[in-house]
Amino acid sequence: MFFPKNKIIIGAANFGANYGFVGNPKNINLEKVKKIVTLCEGYGINKIDTAMGYANSEKIIGNLKNDLKVITKFPYIPGSRNNIKKEIILRVNNSLKKLKSKKIHALIMHDPEQLLSQNGKIIYETLLDLKSKNIVEKIGVSVYDENTLLKIVSLYNIDVVQFPCNYLNRTFLSKDLILKLKKKNIEIQARSIFLMGFLLNNNFKNNQYLKKWSKTFEAINKWHVENKISKLESCLSFIASKKYIDGFIIGIDNLSQVKDILKIKNLKKPNFFFPAMKDLNLIDTRLWKQNKILKNDKGLALWNKASKTILGGNMIFSKRPDLFLPNKWPTYFSKSKGCKIWDISGKSFHDMSLMGIGTNILGYNVQKVDDAVKNVIKLGNLTTLNCPEEVEISEKLIQLHPWADMTKLARTGGEASSVSIRIARAATGKDNIAFCGYHGWHDWYLSANLSNSNKLNEHLLPGLSARGVASNLKNTVFPFLYNDLEGLKKIISQKNIGTVKMEVCRNELPKNNFLKKVRDLCTKKGIVLIFDECSSGFRQSNGGLHKIYNVNPDIATFGKALGNGYPITAIIGKKEVMEAAQESFISSTFWSDRIGPTAALATLAEMAKIKSWNIITKKGNYLRKKWTSIAKKYNLNLKLYGIPALSAFTINSPRFLEYKTFITQEMLKKKILASNSVYLSVAHEKKIIDCYLYELDKIFKIIGECEQGRNIYSLLESPVCISGFKRLN
Ligand SMILES: Cc1ncc(COP(=O)(O)O)c(C=O)c1O
Repeated sequence: MFFPKNKIIIGAANFGANYGFVGNPKNINLEKVKKIVTLCEGYGINKIDTAMGYANSEKIIGNLKNDLKVITKFPYIPGSRNNIKKEIILRVNNSLKKLKSKKIHALIMHDPEQLLSQNGKIIYETLLDLKSKNIVEKIGVSVYDENTLLKIVSLYNIDVVQFPCNYLNRTFLSKDLILKLKKKNIEIQARSIFLMGFLLNNNFKNNQYLKKWSKTFEAINKWHVENKISKLESCLSFIASKKYIDGFIIGIDNLSQVKDILKIKNLKKPNFFFPAMKDLNLIDTRLWKQNKILKNDKGLALWNKASKTILGGNMIFSKRPDLFLPNKWPTYFSKSKGCKIWDISGKSFHDMSLMGIGTNILGYNVQKVDDAVKNVIKLGNLTTLNCPEEVEISEKLIQLHPWADMTKLARTGGEASSVSIRIARAATGKDNIAFCGYHGWHDWYLSANLSNSNKLNEHLLPGLSARGVASNLKNTVFPFLYNDLEGLKKIISQKNIGTVKMEVCRNELPKNNFLKKVRDLCTKKGIVLIFDECSSGFRQSNGGLHKIYNVNPDIATFGKALGNGYPITAIIGKKEVMEAAQESFISSTFWSDRIGPTAALATLAEMAKIKSWNIITKKGNYLRKKWTSIAKKYNLNLKLYGIPALSAFTINSPRFLEYKTFITQEMLKKKILASNSVYLSVAHEKKIIDCYLYELDKIFKIIGECEQGRNIYSLLESPVCISGFKRLN
């Protein structure tokens, strides 16, 4: 096959800077560049590709005295509508000065997503203006994903597009897309034809970025041997076989490499090329840095080990590292104090995230609670006889909730939920339950997903499969949305509901007297109303959140913060309901341990002493106010969720998960554990919150720029976090 050398565009990224991963990329100085360019010109090569961001590259090209047509690229341009035009012109003038030229052959946007932002139009108009003044001959974009390109060409008339193209990455080679580009007379320039030099590389095994694909590269090697073709030739042959590609950039590393390429006359065309790959972390070079695994990262090593022996890797979904920062989250702790956590390498962090998933309102390692527990350890935790503390804590909980008469203690929130459901079913004699929100992992709850198994996207808990849940539980539990009284009424009228189970509030506040109306409805229909206070309890009042709203349930369950980190949960309820379960069997060995009730007694005493619910609510309100004002400063559309002490935000953007990952990444560098929700404790002193807010301001500024087209992917150093499950409220 003929090798169209005149389609080569000299890639000047390595001029004056280290770029790529090929062999040993050393700076190429002016003398060497001169030789390279002279050689290329002899073969009819007349274009050179550089960028404003490639160190000295433009300056070296300017000193060449040649007739090369220069393609240069400009990066994301910060600034408002008013000054963005000035900024672009300034940068172009600067480039012209360096290039010692009056004209740029093609001006390409490195961050073309900016064209799709609010500033897109003004940028485009500025580029057209430069074109009409003959300062720029062609305008174009350099893209990484097909959707961005499609959107851009549907909105604007561009002359050139650059996209990555090699046998592993054929993302842009669909017939439709190529036809569209050709129809619009857009010149197609391929870049990344050697995948940043990597497809020429034989030493991939030790590459810190691409180790994961060792097997792929072995297969690539084998393919080359079997097809009797060199790595250089296969890459060139692939690109030359795509006749519609008008030019391809070859990043120049040294003179001998150029000589090797130029002496090729005809290329061998294999019967088929090595198959394309879909994994973006391999084919999108921007994402390579995400693949870099820190050497000797003890947390990651332990997580990888754990994933082989522990079902799901750990005990609770919410502590999976990939929910925060895949490959980089510390994952395991060695010790804690206040709101500080030390990881297993001894690095310390302030916890501005989940504070033990909401278990530690008083902070970590609170001496009064720990001392009480230590005393139990000294005296004995569990014996044949019962511990008196279980009576004391039961009385305390009833005293705090005078509507309740009886209790049962458990050790996890999910258990407490299941117990409450058993009691309610026993009391009403009805199986069916209407519920709202998350209530744990047990069968009664997860069975909600059984009725929708073929429509995963519409699942109540997307991603949570009901596999293993007895199928005869299908159609026994029915979800309703928070604040949707009519929806609840409909379920009640159609489904023979005996129990309504819900959180008092989670993300939304009750509207239109919702809680009172639910209470009245349940009373009228003889339905048992259960409030799940597992997360909300003791966070805004001395007891359940329902005390604030003055609406009492028939049963309430408490968990999380009740023992300030020690396992203890509770079910409290009205006598007439609770007693119905005497005929059922609800019993467990470790529900009789002494540490749980002892920790709860010490925790409740300390909470009451300092009125912790007031302290954390005040901190929460402060945090929310600051979140809102920082977001406003950078034009971010922020939505707040939750009660003050358990606040969360989302940024209204399709890139929210990317931003969330970025927040965690940047905060981690400042020794702060953070994502988008904060469980506050009394240990979160103002100066710690302010330090977090100071860092968040800088992060939100960058996210604001990303919303205007700055490329978030080039900022991410790990894969994007996975999303948690959705709640209904
Ligand atoms: C409202 C509510 N109920 C129940 C649970 C389940 O508690 P656990 O994880 O202790 O089983 C949770 C946990 O997040 C919760 O927030």
